[in-house]
Amino acid sequence: MTLKAGISGVGFYVPDKVLTNRDLEKMVETSDEWIRTRTGISERRIAEKGTGTSDLAAKAALSALQNAGLKAEDLDLIIAATTTPDMPLPSCACLVQAKIGAHKAAAFDLAAACAGFVYALVTAEQFIRTGTYKNILVIGADLISSYIDWTDRSTCILFGDGAGAVVLTPAKTGGILSSVIGSDGRHADLLKICGGGSKFPATAETVKNKDHYLRMTGSEVFKLAVRGMTDAVTESLQKANVSLDQVACFIPHQANQRIIDAVGERLGLAPEKVFVNLAKYGNTSAASCVIALCEALSMGKIKKKDKIVLATFGSGLVWGAMVIEW
Ligand code: UT7
Repeated sequence: MTLKAGISGVGFYVPDKVLTNRDLEKMVETSDEWIRTRTGISERRIAEKGTGTSDLAAKAALSALQNAGLKAEDLDLIIAATTTPDMPLPSCACLVQAKIGAHKAAAFDLAAACAGFVYALVTAEQFIRTGTYKNILVIGADLISSYIDWTDRSTCILFGDGAGAVVLTPAKTGGILSSVIGSDGRHADLLKICGGGSKFPATAETVKNKDHYLRMTGSEVFKLAVRGMTDAVTESLQKANVSLDQVACFIPHQANQRIIDAVGERLGLAPEKVFVNLAKYGNTSAASCVIALCEALSMGKIKKKDKIVLATFGSGLVWGAMVIEW
C-alpha cells in the first residue's frame, strides 16, 4: 500500500542581529526607499561570525521536533536543504544530527539553492510513501551572508540568514497531495558562486578577484522566477485536482515582493491568500518557504483541512511547487 506523507511539526530560527535598509545606506550607494519599492524588504537577519548553517538548522530542528512531540532519537532520516553548508565535508545534515542527538538517523544534504526545501520535501516523501521511514526531519537552511559581497548593491540588499525545519510522517488523511520539481541548467550562469569549489578552489587569486561571492543577473532571474513558479503551481494544482478557489494559503519563495505579486496576478490568486514575510527577513534562500510556512501557521492563516501551496525558485535554475492538505 502506498502511504501518504504529512507535516506533523514545524519550527524555525533566525539570528538576533538585524541589518536594516538604513544600515545598508551607510555601506553602499542605495536608499531605504529604493530597496522597499523595488524588493519589499525592510530588514534581514545576519548571523554572527563563527556561526555555521548547522547552528541555525539545529535550533530550527529542535523546535520542529518539540512541535511534533517527537524526540531526536525517533528520527529515521535528516535531509538538510542547503547550498551554504558549514564546510564541504562533512554534510550540514550530519552536523545537525550530532547537535540534536538524532543518533539513529541517516543524514544527507540536498543542494537545490532557494528551491531546496520543496526538493527536500519531495525526496523525503518518497521514503514515507514506500514505507521505508516513518519520521523524517526536513530542513531548509542557509547562511548566505557569508557569500555576500557587501560592496555589491545589486545583491547585498536582498539576502538574510535563517533556518526552518519540518517533521514529515505518514498521514492518514490529507498531507502532500501533489508536487512538481524542475530545473534548467542552461541558465546556470545567472546566479552563481564560482570560487571555492572543485573547479576554482580557493587561491590568493580567487580571493583577490572576489570569486567567492554570489553574483546574479537579477532582471533575468526575475523573469524566469515569475514564469517558473507560475507554471509549477498551475501544474501541481492540476495534478492534485485542486482549484485555485480551494487554496487557503499560498506560500511563495520570499525573494522579491514584485515577483510574488506577478505570480499571484498571473495565477489569479486573491492577494489576501498570499503569505509574505519578506520585509522582516529578506531572501533566506532554502529557509524562505519553510520560515514563511511556520509564521503563516502561528498567525492562524492555515487551519486543519486547509489546502495550501508552496512555490520555490532558485539558482540552477531550479523550481518546485507542492500542494498540501493540512
Ligand atoms: O532566490 C532567487 C534568486 N533571486 C531573485 O529572485 C532576485 C530576482 N531579481 C530581483 O529581485 C531584481 O532584479 C533586483 C531587486 C535584484 C533588481 O531590481 P530591478 O528592478 O531588476 O533593477 P535593475 O537590476 O534593472 O536595476 C535598475 C537600476 C540600475 O540602475 P541604472 O542602470 O538604471 O542606472 C541599478 O544600477 O537600479 C540600480 N540598482 C540600485 N539602485 C539603488 C541596483 N541595485 C540598487 C540598489 N540601490 N540596491
